[in-house]
Amino acid sequence: MKYIFYTVIVIAVVAIIGTVVHLYKVSAKNKAEMSKYENDVKLTANLGKVLIIYYSLTSRTKDVALDIQLFTNGDLYEIKPQEEIKNNASLYLTSKKQISSGNYPAIVQDFPNIDKYDRIFVGAPIWWYTAATPVLEFLKEFDFKNKKVVPFSTQGSNY
Ligand SMILES: Cc1cc2nc3c(=O)[nH]c(=O)nc-3n(C[C@H](O)[C@H](O)[C@H](O)COP(=O)(O)O)c2cc1C
Repeated sequence: MKYIFYTVIVIAVVAIIGTVVHLYKVSAKNKAEMSKYENDVKLTANLGKVLIIYYSLTSRTKDVALDIQLFTNGDLYEIKPQEEIKNNASLYLTSKKQISSGNYPAIVQDFPNIDKYDRIFVGAPIWWYTAATPVLEFLKEFDFKNKKVVPFSTQGSNY
């Protein structure tokens, strides 16, 4: 019994260390990649009238949306879940289930009128290797009417 207990503890510790090392490596790689472009952000193209649609749980995607707004002078639209999504451990389970079943959380239906826009940015945090489920729901429901769409994302808890 004691032996099983210690084995479980050792496996858990190894798993936790492995996860932390993996996340650290991903984060360091992303940082190095992004720093290449840090001082090189210039917008020369005329994108026309821009709308930036985004969802953000912990504000990283929102920060990128705000940067895009600075460069494009665009308007912002935030995708809002009807029920508050909390950033806790159970979110990983519920979002995984939602992604496999295609039953995404309901979102507020105050969709933007996109007639006057030439280009639409759509921003999502990555959840389980795909867009966060409120964005997946938005994409399911929203008609982009053949507008030019520019997707962007944040992931790995890193800009
Ligand atoms: C439920 C959940 C699943 C996630 N899955 C991934 C993933 O598969 N890959 C990844 O690189 N980051 C993943 N992340 C990290 C987020 O993509 C990252 O923290 C993102 O920048 C958060 O954006 P936000 O602050 O706009 O919500 C996940 C985060 C959550 C909450």
